[in-house]
Amino acid sequence: MNKTKYLITSALPYINGLPHLGHMVGCLLPSDVYARFMRMQGKDVLYICGTDEHGTASEVAALKAGVPVQEYCDDFHEQHKKIYQAFNLSFDYLGRTSTEQNKEMTYRIAEELDKNGFFEEKTIKQVFSVDDNQFLADRYITGTCPHCGYEKARGDQCENCTKVLDPTDLINARSTISGSTNLEVRETKHLFIKLSALQPKLKAWLETKEFTWPEVAYSIAQKWLKEGLQERCITRDLKWGFPVNKEGFEDKVFYVWFDAPIGYIGITKQWSDEKPAERSWEDWWLKPDDVHYVEFMGKDNVPYHTITFPATLMGTGENWKLVDYLKGMSYLTFNGGKFSKSEQVGIFCDQAVQEFPADYWRYWLMANAPESSDSSFTFEAFASTINKDLNDVLGNFINRVLKMTTSNFGQIVPDGGVEGDDEKALYTRLDELIADYTKYMNEMEFRKALSTLREIWVEGNNYIARNEPWKVVKTDKERAAVILRTALNMIPLFAVLSAPVMPETSEKMLKLMNLSSENLTWVKADASDVLKQLSVGHEFNAPELLFSKISAEQVEELAIRYKEKKEV
Ligand code: MF3
Ligand code: ZN
Repeated sequence: MNKTKYLITSALPYINGLPHLGHMVGCLLPSDVYARFMRMQGKDVLYICGTDEHGTASEVAALKAGVPVQEYCDDFHEQHKKIYQAFNLSFDYLGRTSTEQNKEMTYRIAEELDKNGFFEEKTIKQVFSVDDNQFLADRYITGTCPHCGYEKARGDQCENCTKVLDPTDLINARSTISGSTNLEVRETKHLFIKLSALQPKLKAWLETKEFTWPEVAYSIAQKWLKEGLQERCITRDLKWGFPVNKEGFEDKVFYVWFDAPIGYIGITKQWSDEKPAERSWEDWWLKPDDVHYVEFMGKDNVPYHTITFPATLMGTGENWKLVDYLKGMSYLTFNGGKFSKSEQVGIFCDQAVQEFPADYWRYWLMANAPESSDSSFTFEAFASTINKDLNDVLGNFINRVLKMTTSNFGQIVPDGGVEGDDEKALYTRLDELIADYTKYMNEMEFRKALSTLREIWVEGNNYIARNEPWKVVKTDKERAAVILRTALNMIPLFAVLSAPVMPETSEKMLKLMNLSSENLTWVKADASDVLKQLSVGHEFNAPELLFSKISAEQVEELAIRYKEKKEV
């Protein structure tokens, strides 16, 4: 089925804490590259993201910061927004999960689930902190591990010996929030969603995704199904969240993972409420037949998007749009280890764009995307890619071509001569590469796509090196004109192909050639046409440096500043 509407979502980053490069490459950036690519294909794209704001983590972070949680979220939402703008993420809308619109969607979905008999009430025992006057989630209880004696074990697991724990196993258990040891086990009533009852429907739907979804996503979902789905608690004893809209539960809120994915819908409603001229949110979510829905996320998010969220939507009995393709990403590590805000290890996105232009990051991250396995960031690898691919290959090509043309023919596309065999060979080669690149982008095989993009640039350099226009011009000006004209035409071609990944650079390249970057469309014609599009006599601008190299000293300095080097 040829669907024309593309709904694209990036996992909604938690509001507390700012994103590091791993978050950027895990969902935000690949979804942006894909959305830009699809827009250039002429598709009707709606690209949605937002901040995931509820839950204990935000409550505790706000408490630590000494501000009301709403204020904390307002402030951090703005900070997230700035970072995403700095990275040129082209969301149609960046919303929030804590809005009235999302509450409306959450209530609507919860009511339907309840009406259809998919809710179950259960009384469970949970640790209550008398001094904090609240129930504590397992991971907010700290104590000594009974197995290894580690003093900072969490109520759900001991980080030191990795044994899974129950909060009541801990010796000297205390609240992580206040440090109080005045804890009691109390009974509390919660709502559970009966996933087991939805298992057959879910299983049948998931089976249609075999061989089409990335292995990492499909296998995680299958593993959950094989283990058998259990009912899952979807309410919490917290203050920050949507109060549960069911009698007897008014003092509870929905669990953050219940309303967060519903946030994709709530945020779409936020968007359509603000832009009444656009189509309504229902066109994207409730009339699924002409919509193709692609989700991007890190692999830790996969179970929620393949199991709990689809089951939640199915349980309503309404015709909600379910994900068609799920791009799950592995992890990016920092020099093989973890990014850590608290220990200030690793580079966070706000810092990243202060060090280098966004396009450097966008290019490196996509070229090294952790697709089939984890990948590791080091400043050395980063510098090497930027120096080689962007400076030596792309930047150098453009610079040389513009300079050589200017010194021999002036700042215009030169006239004279006709294309020969070498041009025809070039067209054939470029056609192949462009077809591959387009295919990989369509398939969201980003590493393969970017290495093909680089090969395309390399073809430009090879063409110049092979044809030596600087020599030819001395004996055969007509032939030199053909070579340089063909090479000049490659600049807008490279700009178009690079646009989803490096939007700013692409714009600069087009500006150099006196071309507009508005309404960019993908190359449709074959290279033999594309490389003749600049008319003879078309003026271009004096070259400006598109990239600059990163020196070994800079690498050294950055590695120290961001604590990359482990002490030996
Ligand atoms: N906040 C989660 C994270 O950063 C992702 C939530 S995605 C959504 O890991 F489904 F909840 F939207
Ligand atoms: Zn232990």
